[in-house]
Amino acid sequence: MSASKPESQGFQGKVALITGGTRGIGRALALSLAARGATPIVNYRQNQEAAQGTVAELERMGATPLAIRADVESLEQLEAMFDQVAERFGRLDFFVSNAAASNFRPFMELGPHHLERTFNTNVRAFVIGTQRAARLMQDGGRIVVMSSYGSIRAYPTYANLGSAKAAIEAWVRYMAVELGPGINVNAVSGGIIESDSSAYFYGTGRVPPLETVLPKLPKQRMGTVQEVADCVLFLLSPAAGYVTGTTLVVDGGLTAIAPPFQSEMD
Ligand SMILES: NC(=O)c1ccc[n+]([C@@H]2O[C@H](COP(=O)([O-])OP(=O)(O)OC[C@H]3O[C@@H](n4cnc5c(N)ncnc54)[C@H](OP(=O)(O)O)[C@@H]3O)[C@@H](O)[C@H]2O)c1
Repeated sequence: MSASKPESQGFQGKVALITGGTRGIGRALALSLAARGATPIVNYRQNQEAAQGTVAELERMGATPLAIRADVESLEQLEAMFDQVAERFGRLDFFVSNAAASNFRPFMELGPHHLERTFNTNVRAFVIGTQRAARLMQDGGRIVVMSSYGSIRAYPTYANLGSAKAAIEAWVRYMAVELGPGINVNAVSGGIIESDSSAYFYGTGRVPPLETVLPKLPKQRMGTVQEVADCVLFLLSPAAGYVTGTTLVVDGGLTAIAPPFQSEMD
């Protein structure tokens, strides 16, 4: 893609590491970055087929991507991933901490190992990952982490991940202060987004069915992975140069509503 296209401005030649970049929101973002002339490094945990599919798609678009298999829950694998990025590129322009995993149980059923695994996968990976990324951003850079509405609202079986997301949003503020002026750090908080992970969550049978939830939302539908990726893209773009330390909410109005629901008046 030509650097002269306006949408490539600020993206051409940039190196972007996206954790969980081979499916869902991360994949949509990797494709959008490649379309603008950036080089995506897509991390994944185990699904080789999805990783190969994403890499093939990125190559078809003319990018020279790199896929790195690393479970971000493991400090050793997280560090090895950054070693590989440093060795191959020597720098990083964008770091998107997008991979997430947790266990979905009522509060009283959560054991210490559930807390530890969720903390390590979601909070520690973001904090240590940002330290490593920042060292590779000598010319400045952008960091974006994925949060969700579970950080500020309570809903069934989401306490463990929701509190990790809340911690992430607090970290964003501290990082923005300490890494400025060169590096911007922000979160994107998604609502109910159509992806494998939301299908899994609503398939557990431990939450009310989606059909009863979606009509209550102002937008009355799920969001798409592209709609979230587009907002991450904005935070990575020159247009967001003065945006740091904040959380951009992309939830179709989910966190604006409260009982008694407007939708139940109709
Ligand atoms: N979907 C929603 O409704 C929603 C709403 C709000 C926020 N979010 C947030 O958005 C982000 C992306 O969600 P998504 O729905 O797009 O996910 P997704 O479609 O389920 O994709 C998950 C990606 O993350 C990778 N991954 C998972 N655990 C990993 C680990 N421990 N180490 C490295 N990679 C790992 C997966 O790799 P493999 O393919 O190898 O498994 C895959 O590439 C998450 O932070 C999530 O909390 C999602």
